[in-house]
Amino acid sequence: MRCVARLIFSLPYSYQTIGHIAGFIFRNLSKLLQNQSTNMKFFIDTASLDQIKEAKDFGILDGVTTNPSLMAKEGITGQKNIYAHYQKICEIVDGDVSAEVISTDFEGIIKEGEALSKLAPNIVVKVPMIRDGVKALSYFRDNDIRTNCTLVFSAGQAILAAKAGATYLSPFIGRIDDISWDGIGLIEQIAEIYAIQGYETEILAASIRNGKHIVDAARAGADVFTCPLDAALSLLKHPLTDIGLEKFLADHKKGNG
Ligand code: G3P
Repeated sequence: MRCVARLIFSLPYSYQTIGHIAGFIFRNLSKLLQNQSTNMKFFIDTASLDQIKEAKDFGILDGVTTNPSLMAKEGITGQKNIYAHYQKICEIVDGDVSAEVISTDFEGIIKEGEALSKLAPNIVVKVPMIRDGVKALSYFRDNDIRTNCTLVFSAGQAILAAKAGATYLSPFIGRIDDISWDGIGLIEQIAEIYAIQGYETEILAASIRNGKHIVDAARAGADVFTCPLDAALSLLKHPLTDIGLEKFLADHKKGNG
């Protein structure tokens, strides 16, 4: 499989379309061979219990991602309250819930990660892409604690995280676009590398800001997208749907009073 991938990618043509098609085939073939689902999951990016419940009621929620900024936005402070809040989130959702460590040194990350992982079986420990973070990812992998490597902005960082056994990888699409770079291009790059190398880390497209990001992340091979509920609900909107529905209802009313 890997030899065929290398052969295709080393052929003398460099047309983007051929690369995309080949990338698509290998991404999905390798997932099928590894018996992984090829359906992109939706995680809501919030610490708001109301938003999480609303997303769950909508019927498409697969999990939750949080970060220290999102916890602060909800006014959750102090370790005891923060941990209790994670437990409340885990009671609402069956899927994975990312809980981020605050420590930046190896021992601190391990201590916090172990405590977080004991809060609920669906907790995933979120670890920043720093030197001690990568070291901690390996430790957590060896100790069966699932992880989400966050603050990823390059393909090189994605390789390190995958080698260290991260369960999820969070490239920040919106923040890359904010500095006039190509967030979705990074997802494509990582998806291609992971397919060729057979890395099992799931690509969690984060810092997603709008519906176009979601559609583009799906096409680029993301395994998960995480965003606020508004961005996910923006997928609903199309003016022709509204105009069409209005006409259907008006025509029905004409005939039925
Ligand atoms: O999941 C990461 C996300 O919370 C960052 O989003 O919009 O603050 O760049 P944003």
